[in-house]
Amino acid sequence: MATTNTDPEIITDKNEMRKWSRAMRSQGKTVGLVPTMGYLHEGHLSLIKESHNRTNLTVVSIYVNPGQFSPSEDLSTYPSDFHGDLLKLKSLPQRVDVVFHPYNLYDYNNNNNNNNKSVVIGNAIRKGENETVSSCVEETEAGHETWVRVERLEKGMCGKSRPVFFRGVATVVAKLFNIVEPDVAVFGKKDYQQLRVIQRMVRDLDFSIEVIGSEIMRDSDGLALSSRNVHLKPEEREKALSISRSLFWAKSAAQKGQINCKELRELVIKEINGAGGRIDYVEVVNQESLEAVDKINSPVVICVAVRFGTVRLIDNMEINV
Ligand code: PAF
Repeated sequence: MATTNTDPEIITDKNEMRKWSRAMRSQGKTVGLVPTMGYLHEGHLSLIKESHNRTNLTVVSIYVNPGQFSPSEDLSTYPSDFHGDLLKLKSLPQRVDVVFHPYNLYDYNNNNNNNNKSVVIGNAIRKGENETVSSCVEETEAGHETWVRVERLEKGMCGKSRPVFFRGVATVVAKLFNIVEPDVAVFGKKDYQQLRVIQRMVRDLDFSIEVIGSEIMRDSDGLALSSRNVHLKPEEREKALSISRSLFWAKSAAQKGQINCKELRELVIKEINGAGGRIDYVEVVNQESLEAVDKINSPVVICVAVRFGTVRLIDNMEINV
């Protein structure tokens, strides 16, 4: 394919990726990484802008990570449109230098075999005494068996209903960090718990990478941008607006002096229930520790996970009163 000034280089091989990054850094260039699972929207594009503002070069990874899905989750239906993603990246005013698009980061024999599309379910981990949970990563004798766990932060909120999610995220992000070796990595605040898990991993494992949390991007009606929004039927999308609406109300109530978190939670729960959402959790937690709080006397964030139809949406609102 002809390369124009704005065409990103597409790299699928992890060794090539590392070679590129090392070559650039040896020339004194700084590298930013924006990890994504593709199906890019304005939210991702704002992360790219953030990277662009902070570094000389930007790498966008596009990889739907089987390690963060359990067999019962939506790995097979996770939306993807690599060609569309490339067009979006090419049309950006900020240049993306590389799109890192590996085939299978858990296959150590045949890293680039695009013909072998099967993902074997396996890799059980112990959840409780007699219970194990699995992710969609092939379990073979020669397969992947090392996982990064951020033990306390991974447990609450999304970790309760998605027990393999954060170990899968932390592991793939650690792999991406080791492959791309960026100076800066940018993640969205929409995935608040994910951001805190990654920041803690970076601190605890001494990665020399600055992790930036970028503000949530919303549609003009308030819905937080997400690749999953595409699965919402029009009437579900309308009802899903109750999430952001109630979060903004709660923030406004807090700013007017309501510091009782039970009251704020109830306000959010009532609005979402009223719209027919099936709430997974609504929690008011400390922004750093993600511990639940009763009264607002330090920066908090209200985090929400809710289903409309079959679509699970998350959103949050920071409150710094
Ligand atoms: O937020 C996401 O898209 C994913 O969880 C991430 C960080 C790219 C890891 O697969």
